[in-house]
Amino acid sequence: MERVRAILLLAGVFFFALSFALMGVLPIVSLSDIPTQTLAEVAPVVQDSFLDLKERWPAAFGKAFGEPTLENYHAALRRGREVYIGEGCWHCHSQYVRPVSNEGLRFGPVSIAEEYQNEMQMPVLFGTRRVGPDLTREGGKRTNDWHAAHFFDPPSVVPTSVMPRYPWLFEPVVGGILPTPPNRDGLSLIAYVQWLGKWPRPDVESPVQESP
Ligand code: HEC
Repeated sequence: MERVRAILLLAGVFFFALSFALMGVLPIVSLSDIPTQTLAEVAPVVQDSFLDLKERWPAAFGKAFGEPTLENYHAALRRGREVYIGEGCWHCHSQYVRPVSNEGLRFGPVSIAEEYQNEMQMPVLFGTRRVGPDLTREGGKRTNDWHAAHFFDPPSVVPTSVMPRYPWLFEPVVGGILPTPPNRDGLSLIAYVQWLGKWPRPDVESPVQESP
């Protein structure tokens, strides 16, 4: 009996030490020298989708940002991220393509550590669970007006959707029922989701096949 206890105790200590080394020490040693990127590095140019926002809603865009300069684009991305955090989008959406279950086929290349070492992932937006799809590579999957209609009223484009409506991301309705243009927060959030996955990757190697 004494012997069994001693073995169990030793095994417990051993596995504790092993998991500490594998999940604590190893990541620190192998990942801590990844350089931290600034927003200018992960968003080096103004995306076409941002120019398209201006074409689609010139008045609302002018009021929110003026001209679609790189500086204003960065301001939009920063604000979009704040709205994403503030509205709790991360309760239902992850930003992490895992190397299991053929996720690469659905969401694009599996995420790598380098993608999270930048200003836009502080704090990281891995999310907590997936009620909706992963959004890591959402940029360019849909059009700006799809996103606008979707944020205004998700079931209007995806009838079975359980995603909430976000009417406060739009200008107030004045005598009518038609959706109004997105306001500054709405435009920023669209710019942000259209940017997701569009940053230059330090490596394009992925263990899983890229989606077509
Ligand atoms: C209660 C959970 C929930 C919350 C909160 C939520 N979503 Fe969703 N979202 C979903 C579900 C479910 C879907 C899939 C059905 C659909 O497209 O509406 C979805 C779909 C999406 C899509 C479309 C993905 C694609 O290309 O098919 C985007 C983009 C999106 N959500 C962004 C957001 C953003 C931004 C927020 C915060 C403002 C948010 N969601 C909040 C549940 C949620």
